[in-house]
Amino acid sequence: MAAELIDGRAVARDVRREVAEGTAELTAAGTRPGLAVVLVGEDPASQVYVRMKTRACEEAGIEARDTKLPADTPQAELEAVVDELNADPDVHAILVQLPLPEGLDEKAIVERVRPEKDVDGLHPVNVGRLALGDPAAIRPCTPAGVQELLRRIGFDPEGRRAVIVGRSNLVGRPLASILLQREPFANATVTVAHSRTRDLAAVTREAELLVAAVGRPELITADMVREGAVVIDVGVNRVDDPSAEKGYRLVGDVAFDEVRKRAGWITPVPGGVGPMTIAMLLRNTLAAARRAAGRTVGAASPAGGA
Ligand SMILES: NC(=O)c1ccc[n+]([C@@H]2O[C@H](COP(=O)([O-])OP(=O)(O)OC[C@H]3O[C@@H](n4cnc5c(N)ncnc54)[C@H](OP(=O)(O)O)[C@@H]3O)[C@@H](O)[C@H]2O)c1
Repeated sequence: MAAELIDGRAVARDVRREVAEGTAELTAAGTRPGLAVVLVGEDPASQVYVRMKTRACEEAGIEARDTKLPADTPQAELEAVVDELNADPDVHAILVQLPLPEGLDEKAIVERVRPEKDVDGLHPVNVGRLALGDPAAIRPCTPAGVQELLRRIGFDPEGRRAVIVGRSNLVGRPLASILLQREPFANATVTVAHSRTRDLAAVTREAELLVAAVGRPELITADMVREGAVVIDVGVNRVDDPSAEKGYRLVGDVAFDEVRKRAGWITPVPGGVGPMTIAMLLRNTLAAARRAAGRTVGAASPAGGA
């Protein structure tokens, strides 16, 4: 039997609508959520991402502020821009588009952003809080989006075997932290596999929830998947395709057509995890603005999502 498709576009649309409602409410109460996006250099992919993020903000009623800097911007100047945004009370969330051009110290910039405005959840304070199970952690958008997909299909991994393939700071590691939390749609028994894992197929076949975040086209084949598993494909890979208009097409880390026949649920690429990332960015921005507004009026700051 073919797996059920997880429609990330539809889920992302719902999340964005909910964020728009929350934003309207907060704006009416005197605080319009504001996201500052900093782009250094002319990387075409980064330019596309920044445009998509800005447009999504506008649609949700969030004020988006773009700062574009040349690729040869000195470290001190970029740090001064971040400092200014850190100090601006109308900016509740800051996103420095990565990767930065060669010569800039990415780690220093990530750590320069105030943790409460670190909407990507990459600052060591947020990473540490998440690892400690502190609900005040801002969670990275892509893994938070994976958990949201599980919530929307009603698959609670509590007590189940979850295998994540990939241990990047952006996806694999924070997702492992999220799935380990003592909370609904977590509490899983988590294994993280990577390039040094021996007999990867034997590990992935154990998974009731299998997440691929590798960056290798169609690495996960049907023989690596347990019957009925929930399969989430984070990978986005370009493969040459002369028959496609652009000369390439996008595929995930999962061999979709064959795995679909074995899995219980599966995300497509594109249209699975991808749209969730921006939706969760908007949600994180709203949550940061809510916390800032709560502090301003002296109320207890609500933790967590939108
Ligand atoms: N949908 C979205 O919004 C979104 C967001 C972020 C990323 N992505 C996509 O997700 C994929 C992963 O991104 P990333 O940033 O996490 O990548 P990354 O930093 O390159 O990490 C890849 C991970 O996969 C592991 N790996 C590589 N080859 C492997 C193999 N043959 N078997 C098992 N593990 C292997 C690596 O192991 P080692 O640690 O041992 O090297 C590493 O941990 C990419 O395709 C990326 O484009 C999508």
